[in-house]
Formats: sequence, C-alpha cells, structure tokens
Amino acid sequence: MPGLMTMMALAPSPPMSVRPCFCNKMRGTTMLLVKNRSSSQAHLLGRRSWRAPAATTVATAAATAFHVDEQEREEMMMRRLAEDGWVDEHMLPLLTPVEEAWQPADLLPSFVVSADEQRSQVAELQARAAGVPDDLLVCLVGSMVTEEGLPGYMSMANRVAGGGDATGCDDHGWARWLRGWTAEENRHGDLLNRYLYLCGRVDMRRVETTVHHLLGRGMRAMLRPSSAYHSLIYGSFQERATFVSHARTARQAGLHGDACLAKLCGVIAADERRHEAAYTRAAARAFEDDQDGMVRALAAVMRAKITMPGELMDDGRDERLFDHFSAVAQRSGVYTAADYADMVEHFVRRWKVAELGAGLSGEGRRAQDYVCGLPRKIRRMEELAQDRAAQMGAQSVCFSWVFDRPVRIH
Ligand SMILES: [Fe+2]
Ligand SMILES: [Fe+2]
Repeated sequence: MPGLMTMMALAPSPPMSVRPCFCNKMRGTTMLLVKNRSSSQAHLLGRRSWRAPAATTVATAAATAFHVDEQEREEMMMRRLAEDGWVDEHMLPLLTPVEEAWQPADLLPSFVVSADEQRSQVAELQARAAGVPDDLLVCLVGSMVTEEGLPGYMSMANRVAGGGDATGCDDHGWARWLRGWTAEENRHGDLLNRYLYLCGRVDMRRVETTVHHLLGRGMRAMLRPSSAYHSLIYGSFQERATFVSHARTARQAGLHGDACLAKLCGVIAADERRHEAAYTRAAARAFEDDQDGMVRALAAVMRAKITMPGELMDDGRDERLFDHFSAVAQRSGVYTAADYADMVEHFVRRWKVAELGAGLSGEGRRAQDYVCGLPRKIRRMEELAQDRAAQMGAQSVCFSWVFDRPVRIH
C-alpha cells in the first residue's frame, strides 16, 4: 500500500458540504445512538444540549449523527463480508502463500557462500548501481522511506470499523487479510533498505534518520479514519500508485544497466498489483452494496486531497523534503500528475461511476459529476504547472540522502 500519491495534492478542494436533508430525523436518531453506540461516540453526542439548539448546533448535530449513521452502515457491511466468507473467497487468495513468496534474501548477495564469493557479489551489485543517476536514487529512497512507514499504515488500517484486528490474532477474514498484507509489505522496505545499504551510493544515516522521523511523526489521518469506504478507496489508489512508481523505477533501473535493482522493484511492483486488485475488488463490492455512500465517499476522498503516506518524512535538514522528492519523481517520470489523472479515470471506469443512476441522492449525483470531471481538471492543472515550471527554468535541490549532491526538481 505505501506509495507515492504526490499529485493527489493537485486535486481542487472545494469546501466539504453537509448532506442537507437530514434534520427531520436527527433528534430521534441521535438519541437512539446515544443509547446504543460505543462510549466515545455516546460521549460525543451526549455533550449536545437539547434546549433550544441554535441553527449551527443543529447543523453540527445533523452532520455528526449523519456520520455516525454512515459509520454504522459501513461497519455492518464490513462485518457481513467477513462473516459470509466474501473476504476469504475474494481477498485472501490474492496474498501469496509464505512457502511460495519471495524473500529479500533471494534477491540480494548471499552470505551462505564463501567470503570471496560474497565480496564478488557485493562488488557486482555496486558496479551496476554506479550507473543509476541521482534522481532515480532519490525516487528510490523516497519509496523506501515510505515503505518503511508500514507500522503507521497497519495501525491506520486497524482503525477501520468492522475491519480491524482487535486482539492481534483475530480469526475473521479482515484481520487475516491485514496481517497477511502487512507481512508482504514488510518485505518491501527490507528489500529496498538492504539494496541501498549495499550499493554504497546513499548516506544511510540520513536515510535512516528520515525513516525514524516519519515513524515518529506518523501520517495525517484520512478524512474519516474509521470509515471502511474511505479506507477501501484509499487503499485502491495507494496500491495502484505504488505499482506505477515501482514499475517505472524498475524500467529506468534496467535502462541504466542495473538489472538487480530492476528485478527488486519489479517483484515489489507485482505485489502492489495484487494488493491493488484486492482493495479495488472490495471497493467494487461496496459499490454494489451502497452506491450512493460509495460515490460520496469517493468524492470526499478526492476533495480531501488524499493524504500521502510519506508526506511527513523529514531528514532533519530540508523542511520541504517531501515536496522536493515529489518534484523529482514528477520530473523523472517515476510518478506524475498525468498518472494520477489516469488513475482517477481508471477507477471511475472500474467502479462504473458514470453509470450509477437511479439509486443516487442529490449529493450522490453531485459527487458523481465531480469525480467524473476530475481527470480533465487534473490534466489542465498539470499543463499550467508545467508552463510555470518552464518559465522558472532549471532548479536543483541538494538532497542529504545522496550526500548533499544537487538534483534537478524542474
Ligand atoms: Fe502494497
Ligand atoms: Fe509496498
């Protein structure tokens, strides 16, 4: 899942709207929920005064009750998908059995051979890595740092209502998926980390400091961190973005003569492809269940400029490290605004968003229009950004990751 969602920030962000037609049932629903919901939600709702509520209080309570209602529906769907075996049938087969899975040790110099052979293998890896340009190394480090933020992503996924692993060894499908997905992802950071260490081209202390900062700083939560709909959409986008960026890195590494790096990134990309298929499939299932809720969730996630998992990376030197890394990725073609527009288009097609019809509310229709028109807006914004960059001329930034060598950002 961890991936490069740089260009999602290009998506325009109009103010969030509250669904307007809810006030009539607000009071009854809210009181019922106070009795039935968890203590934190009851506490939240219990703070409301029922004495002559002001208009803003009514609107806020309506929004809160609406979200609690949505949350309950999403949670029930998640539980149902686990209980009726849907997750077992449609998601778990997309994980590779451990006995068949690659491990980082399969793809890097071996230490079970003689000392001479070990030195020879490391020397060969370093000779090939010598041809990798700094901009590709920066992209690789940024991807590796993002992959190493995995503890935060597992923690976030575990907060999804109805989909979490409450005990750490729950037996339901979502919990088994989450642990299996985490185990597969864990190899990505390990593999890239070891390659970067062995290749000798990067300042590992600065890279490790960046990972340390990222884990300490965490990631900004999604719009509704416990929302299953938001999580499934977010997961689909992230996995696809990660597939694109690792696959492009593999291709460019091959062109620069580093077959080892090309292979590493290629196997990671293949994992991301399977993960994308799983989340996309689950989101499609949710569309079947609640097309109005899902299209509104999709628009909300897009409008909120999906929070990038590595956005808070920090090497202790460059306050705009993530922006600069993103700019290098854009310039080098590893991940671009056009890729983001393509992704939105892909998911609109995959989830048949344009064809949703009779069951949509007014807000659902507005969300549908917004999402279907988004790729065109993103492409237009990309053109404007490229025009601005062209007017500014060449600009470079020094990256601590590559011993403070300057790397072109545009
Ligand atoms: Fe993944
Ligand atoms: Fe990954």
